[in-house]
Amino acid sequence: MGIERTFVAIKPDGVQRGLIGEILSRFERKGFKLVALKQVTPSRELAEKHYGVHRERPFFSGLVDFITSGPVVAMVWEGEGVISSARKLIGATKPLESEPGTIRGDLAVNIGRNVIHGSDGAETAKFEISLWFDSSEINDWIPADLVWRVES
Ligand code: RTP
Ligand code: MG
Repeated sequence: MGIERTFVAIKPDGVQRGLIGEILSRFERKGFKLVALKQVTPSRELAEKHYGVHRERPFFSGLVDFITSGPVVAMVWEGEGVISSARKLIGATKPLESEPGTIRGDLAVNIGRNVIHGSDGAETAKFEISLWFDSSEINDWIPADLVWRVES
């Protein structure tokens, strides 16, 4: 599978509800490596690009209104298989259908307020990381416990 990077964002509802620490800790405890982190209130232009694939959907303008309504915590996480694993940690889009144990399954009830975003594939991850972050904001670093994290 190899080492990948994925884009994850705590949406404005997650920030407003004080869930930043809870969510970060789930990725940390899983064993993924945080390589970029910032709080940003997205411009409309950024949000429309980010959710561009949904441009024709009826919920698009409400989604953009919501995601631009306040600070978002934007992150890049790195690790083996992190793109699909992050989606598993996050859970299904509709929180009432997300499994307990997942972030949405444990912390959300409303599809329009589902707390967190994660890239849905390799191409999307690449696109979203470069949309939200300048390359100078991404940190290459070697965790002191790396030997414990990777398959030998
Ligand atoms: P996200 O992109 O935010 O990580 O969510 P996702 O991949 O699980 O779901 P996606 O299909 O990409 O939808 C993006 C966001 O749009 C909102 N949505 N509302 N009202 C609706 O039917 C509807 N469908 C989607 C959700 O907030 C979803 O996270
Ligand atoms: Mg999506």
